[in-house]
Amino acid sequence: MSSRVAIVTGAGRGLGSAIASGLAAEGVSVVLAGRTPDHLTMVEKEILDHGGTALSVPTDVTDPDSVRRLFQTSVDRFSRLDVLVNNAGVTGQTKLADLDDAEWHRIFDTNVNGMFLCTRAAGELFADAGRGRAINVASVFGLLGRPGFTAYCASKGAVINFTRAAAAEWARFGSQINAVAPGYFATDINAELRADIAATDKVLRRIPAHRMGDPAELANLVTYLALQAPDFLTGQTIAIDGGESSI
Ligand SMILES: NC(=O)c1ccc[n+]([C@@H]2O[C@H](COP(=O)([O-])OP(=O)(O)OC[C@H]3O[C@@H](n4cnc5c(N)ncnc54)[C@H](OP(=O)(O)O)[C@@H]3O)[C@@H](O)[C@H]2O)c1
Repeated sequence: MSSRVAIVTGAGRGLGSAIASGLAAEGVSVVLAGRTPDHLTMVEKEILDHGGTALSVPTDVTDPDSVRRLFQTSVDRFSRLDVLVNNAGVTGQTKLADLDDAEWHRIFDTNVNGMFLCTRAAGELFADAGRGRAINVASVFGLLGRPGFTAYCASKGAVINFTRAAAAEWARFGSQINAVAPGYFATDINAELRADIAATDKVLRRIPAHRMGDPAELANLVTYLALQAPDFLTGQTIAIDGGESSI
């Protein structure tokens, strides 16, 4: 059997690059999707240097034509798709009273519409093949309410309930879709917070594990859901947050 193939969005840096490398280490051929070509080619080189297979496809997940090209290029190269990881995401901290339309749409266009476009495209391939798995990277902010993050919390809540509904449809054709809900992991997305020692201390105090996660820990969970989890596990959201959402 030829090796399994995964598309990972937002694979050029942060959690997405760790997920792509984790899948590649398990022998999965990985299609790296993201907006910044230089980031993608750096991750691609690292995977190739470790003996893996990767292909960079510059993609804006908010653009339907770009998403179509991503899936077409992947299928042209690998002739199959086994796994989609919807990881591309953006955040923003603005009080609701100051949240303008553009900021609301910026967050929803990537976190919700981008996830929808990619999942719909993968679903067509999975239905034809009678198998396939998608993993959506949500957030503990999709399970909890946090002041200043209304748009982000709402977008990740949408990802979590999208996952439930899509799972109910996909079960008929033998495919699974689950979500992970990360707590804090040190990446560019929270660089501003981490530059503020007092604010970081406040965050760490409310995490029972008193630390941020290591991207490799998230990559392990996503790899498990993509490759090893039982077929009967679908529609679920697994928090990986040092206990933040359990208290
Ligand atoms: N780090 C955390 O603490 C944390 C916690 C909870 C959830 N998450 C979620 O985890 C995911 C990854 O976050 P991260 O921490 O790795 O953030 P990050 O370092 O800021 O990376 C975000 C990634 O998303 C990509 N991206 C953004 N908009 C895109 C678009 N329109 N089309 C294609 N790619 C796009 C970026 O690609 P470019 O570089 O090309 O722009 C980048 O690769 C996000 O969904 C985030 O909400 C992160």
